[in-house]
Amino acid sequence: MSDVNTTTAPGKNRTLADIYSHLPDKPSERTLEQVDYESRHWSSPVKGPLKPGSEEHKKATADMFRETFNPYKPSVIPWPDLDPETLHRIVSLPIWDIAVQTEGKARLRMAAYAEMIDDPDVRDAISRNAWEENRHKEVLSRMVEHYGVPLAPEPAYKEPRDTEWAYLVTGFSECWDSFFAFGLFALAEKAGLFPAELIETFEPVMQEECRHILLFANWLAWHRATMPFWKRPWFELRVVGVLFFLVYERMSLVSSFDDKGVEHTQDNNFTVTGAQSMTDRQVDFVELVELCLRENERRFSGYDPRLQRPQMAPFAARLALRGVKLWRRLRGTAYHHDHDGVAQAAE
Ligand SMILES: [Fe+2]
Ligand SMILES: [Fe+2]
Repeated sequence: MSDVNTTTAPGKNRTLADIYSHLPDKPSERTLEQVDYESRHWSSPVKGPLKPGSEEHKKATADMFRETFNPYKPSVIPWPDLDPETLHRIVSLPIWDIAVQTEGKARLRMAAYAEMIDDPDVRDAISRNAWEENRHKEVLSRMVEHYGVPLAPEPAYKEPRDTEWAYLVTGFSECWDSFFAFGLFALAEKAGLFPAELIETFEPVMQEECRHILLFANWLAWHRATMPFWKRPWFELRVVGVLFFLVYERMSLVSSFDDKGVEHTQDNNFTVTGAQSMTDRQVDFVELVELCLRENERRFSGYDPRLQRPQMAPFAARLALRGVKLWRRLRGTAYHHDHDGVAQAAE
């Protein structure tokens, strides 16, 4: 298992592990309330539109990411005591291996992509994102250790061969997964099956994912606007390829075996299918997707509306909602017809 990547990018003097394990600045002296508020609210002081491709938009994206940073420390998180039932519920969620490994991969892919970028602002933002992914991994690792969740051995984290592709996969995955995670998190909070302290601990992590996908959406807009026009068709083809890959990946369950030969099955699509683990009452699809949309809206609402927002998951969600509602209406109508028919025949 290799947890630290020591490769030095050609011509550069920092390793990828340097990027995801060091921040360029010192922690600030702000109070916790201030930090929490500022991580959720940010507007550029620049007047006028923030057009992707412009210097103002690019600077605003990087400033947003830097200035909304939350300096919480995984090492001082107090993990609450859990009753046996809650502990069992947490330990048996089929997500821990994949969650730890996803963060491990994300930090490396983001560090590798940051290293490819010449623009200092974009490079700074994506390097910080890599650092935050490493911190997520640390939070998860500490939690898993504290509660004794059995994990499969982590694979070696390899530097991606196709850095842009890997960054796109990670970015689009985060956009998709976060959208559903926002809803599941709110569902868990309402249901009260998990202790409030645990929910509170993960709240900044959730908001951090919102910032990550905000950065990704704005990076994507910047990248599209600044790339030479002849590169654009190939890039868009790759984006489509990434989306197909994500659908395929989410349709498969991943099985692996730990050193004791115990099988670990991981649900790649837990953010969509996991609603039932978050609450003890029946969750309706429409209700859940509407909750995801509301939560998505709420989490983004404090950031400058001139910045781009991730579009794919909310768009797919609205489309699915419309489809399901229409289908239910048609089915409802057919049901009434049937009923009337039966009622008439019986008279
Ligand atoms: Fe993460
Ligand atoms: Fe992230």
